[in-house]
Amino acid sequence: MANDLMEKIISLCKRRGFVYPSSEIYGGFANIYDFGPLGSLLAKNIRDVWIKKMVQERNNMYLIDGSILMHPKAWEASGHTAAFTDPLIQCPLCKKRFRADKLEGWELEKDNQTGKWNVLNQGSLICPDCNGDLIPEVKEFNLLMTTSVGSVEGEKTKVYLKGESCQNIYLDFLPIRDTMGAKIPFGIAQIGKAFRNEITLGKFLFKVREFEQMDIEYFCSPEEAKKLYEEWKNIRFNWYIDTIGLSKDRLRWRQHSSQERIFYARDAWDIEYKFFDDFDELEGIHDRSDYDLKQQGKFSGKALDYFDPVSKTRFIPNIIECSGGLQRTFLAVLSESYQEEKVNNEKRVFLKIKPSLSPYKVAVFPLVANKDNLTEKAENVFNLLKPEFMTMWDSIGNIGKRYRRQDEIGTPWCITIDYQTLEDDTVTIRDRDTMEQQRIKIEEIIIWIKEQLHA
Ligand code: GAP
Repeated sequence: MANDLMEKIISLCKRRGFVYPSSEIYGGFANIYDFGPLGSLLAKNIRDVWIKKMVQERNNMYLIDGSILMHPKAWEASGHTAAFTDPLIQCPLCKKRFRADKLEGWELEKDNQTGKWNVLNQGSLICPDCNGDLIPEVKEFNLLMTTSVGSVEGEKTKVYLKGESCQNIYLDFLPIRDTMGAKIPFGIAQIGKAFRNEITLGKFLFKVREFEQMDIEYFCSPEEAKKLYEEWKNIRFNWYIDTIGLSKDRLRWRQHSSQERIFYARDAWDIEYKFFDDFDELEGIHDRSDYDLKQQGKFSGKALDYFDPVSKTRFIPNIIECSGGLQRTFLAVLSESYQEEKVNNEKRVFLKIKPSLSPYKVAVFPLVANKDNLTEKAENVFNLLKPEFMTMWDSIGNIGKRYRRQDEIGTPWCITIDYQTLEDDTVTIRDRDTMEQQRIKIEEIIIWIKEQLHA
């Protein structure tokens, strides 16, 4: 059933322009995807509600939009060049690569400082793909992607694509402290790209090599860190329920064990969501101590500290990190909202997305397409709504088919211009979830939709 749902979502995403495999005319590329016209709007709406709740509605949050390329020393300081590794086993026969820790019966432990993986228990040596014999040799595989910067061949500098989007937040702590008058506790927020040479992929958008992270790094005094950590856990968990519309019973917490936790983190919890079969990570919330600023300070030679004018003390701020994935939130929204039901013995598929996230808010139809006066009136309504909301026009096929097309992409309201409209300037507005219709005046449509969006 769960796999069935995933297949249905993948098919809908392709058919209706939510997600396309990247470079599909070349057979796709490296588990990378493009958001299509509908997917771009859904992704944008997720970013917008994140920024609204996490930045606009808070007092002490600074939004940045950092570059992808950074000084390579920053990745040495963060430990990524040495320790951002997965344990790799490659089948000598079919050449397929696997994460050893995901193979049946294998148990491994990572040294988070060196990136070395120690085998605690050697499991199955049968290749899951071709049934050939695996050689029990585990290699450390670094996930960072590289490119080079410079215009003179031979003098180019090797640089890294961001393995995690947040790293430049740590570097921008200093200019934000100095130029924005930021007072601790404060946060820096960013939605940005991350790139990882993941060994194992699959599950559609869940694990990809290029993705976006929605990050908050919250800078605070060591004394406040524990309390603020709990506050941020609540804020982020509730965001997925109240703002994104995920159901509470498909969300849960998972604490990292002391072996799994990175050595400098004081505590680490994941928010997990039941995507299809299993619960899996949606966002990580970590109490990172003062490690990040200390390391970047050490490598850059700059004092990344803070002087508290009240206590008259200088200290390196602690960081609470909330790092969520845009693609995973996108997938969660689709798997939560995909609905099927029987209407008049026919299957109706609809996406019960929160209207604030729906790619299109409203669709406008003339009741019949070949009547000039109806089409003209409908065009007037369409032109009235377009500056206010993402509005779709549809005049193809019968009204029932048009409703179904909008249901499938999650459009919450459909407006039909009929013969009565020509007499009294009222239209029908039909609700996606209940399929009920009501008549309202054209002059009231905008305010009506705005009220529903803010309800
Ligand atoms: N700065 C912290 C950090 O990067 P992470 O747990 O590795 O932590 C944070 O990543 C979030 O980014 C995850 O919870 C997930 O939502 C998303 N993410 C990580 N790897 C991903 C991948 N390969 N594909 C899609 N999303 C990914």
